[in-house]
Amino acid sequence: MADKREKFGGRLAVILAMAGSAIGLGNIWRFPYMVGEHGGAAFVIVYVIATLLISLPVFLAEVMIGRRSHTNARDAFARLSRQHPFWKTTGYLTILIPTLIACYYSVIGGWSLGYFIQSCSLSLTRMPPENVSRQFGSFVSSAWIPVAMHLVFLGVTVGVVAGGVKSGIEKFSKVSLPVLFVLIVLILAYSVTLPGAGEGVRYLLHPDWSELTPRTFAYAMGQSFYSLSLGMGAIITYGSYVSKKENILATSAGTAVSDLLFAILAGFAIMPAVFAAGIEPGAGPGLIFQSVPYVFARMGATMPVLSAITAILFFLTIIVAAMTSCISLVEVGVSFLMERKGMTRGRACLVLFLVCGGFGVLCSLSFGPLSGVTVAGMSIFDLFDWVCSNILLLLMALLVVLFVGWILPRRVVYDEFTNGGRLRLNHLLFPVFWFLIKWVAPVAVVIIFFTNFIL
Ligand code: PHE
Repeated sequence: MADKREKFGGRLAVILAMAGSAIGLGNIWRFPYMVGEHGGAAFVIVYVIATLLISLPVFLAEVMIGRRSHTNARDAFARLSRQHPFWKTTGYLTILIPTLIACYYSVIGGWSLGYFIQSCSLSLTRMPPENVSRQFGSFVSSAWIPVAMHLVFLGVTVGVVAGGVKSGIEKFSKVSLPVLFVLIVLILAYSVTLPGAGEGVRYLLHPDWSELTPRTFAYAMGQSFYSLSLGMGAIITYGSYVSKKENILATSAGTAVSDLLFAILAGFAIMPAVFAAGIEPGAGPGLIFQSVPYVFARMGATMPVLSAITAILFFLTIIVAAMTSCISLVEVGVSFLMERKGMTRGRACLVLFLVCGGFGVLCSLSFGPLSGVTVAGMSIFDLFDWVCSNILLLLMALLVVLFVGWILPRRVVYDEFTNGGRLRLNHLLFPVFWFLIKWVAPVAVVIIFFTNFIL
């Protein structure tokens, strides 16, 4: 039975698939904006430290749970805890969270598709710049167009997942990841050569140490978790497709470095352009769907061809980055339905399409006809995002670190970390990892959780 399970084809394939999951909207809109708001280069330094000391160990913990249990995220906890009822229930959470996220993540994927089409038809770069912001508002509230785009985006995503681990996910990541890096470098080249771009470069590079408060640390950790797809079952699921021979420290570090590199490139691709156009960098979807399109529209008057091409490439980058992430979200539920409910991959994909598509439609419509429906003052979309990113994700990350640090026997963790003692460097680093996962990571996750609420 275990042998029939699919596997990734080697180290590069593992890194590309995991980096595909990690590199997403978090890198493109959230990271650049957070760097600027929280002390520029000072934030980047904190972010790198948080990634090395906390997120990387948590990432390793997730890969370990997946690889050791060799099954879907729901059964992983049950199997490794010998069917303990608490951990069996935890397993369900690992299926629920990514499925909920896929619902609204694919809505934003759909918006990128809409903007990509507008860029191709040149309507974006020919628009008077002052209309760009209003146009975003009317696009997202226009009901059926964003709903259709969301369903197309989700349909293609699920289509890739239906192709299987090797010929769907692995193949898609092998092509799309290198393409993403090339695209972001092209956009960066356009951006830093715009007149006035220097201000944006300074925004990212200037270290403002006075901005470094406890809150900054919490933000840096939260962002690093989100960016590495932690606490959502995605890395556990991908970990279950990693071969026993693989060095998981090397693959995890490779993924973390790619993710960080992409985030920094995205920062330098976006901020200089935004500053060149003389606008304030805003948070959230506004940055990529209002500020950046404004730049394209403004530059469209003087450099129509170059701006149109860059706009097309920019939205293509977002679509591909969002899709590789969404694939990893959908795969969690698919592997669960296949292994637990005995469904074929095709049928499991169909179920996920219907569930995420259905709830996603509600999220999408919450910008338009359903904008009046609110829970605790939040629209349906905001509610999904808030519950997932601020509560469930951190809860899940805490459970993961407690599971590996306190429930799994040290011997098992050592065995996974060093491949039975065969990897010398890993053997030497194990005490560090063990200390971080047992003590530092749980405290850090609890701190982020409370900081999000209290501060
Ligand atoms: N890491 C992705 C990003 O940066 C988001 C994500 C989280 C994707 C969890 C999959 C699973 O956008």
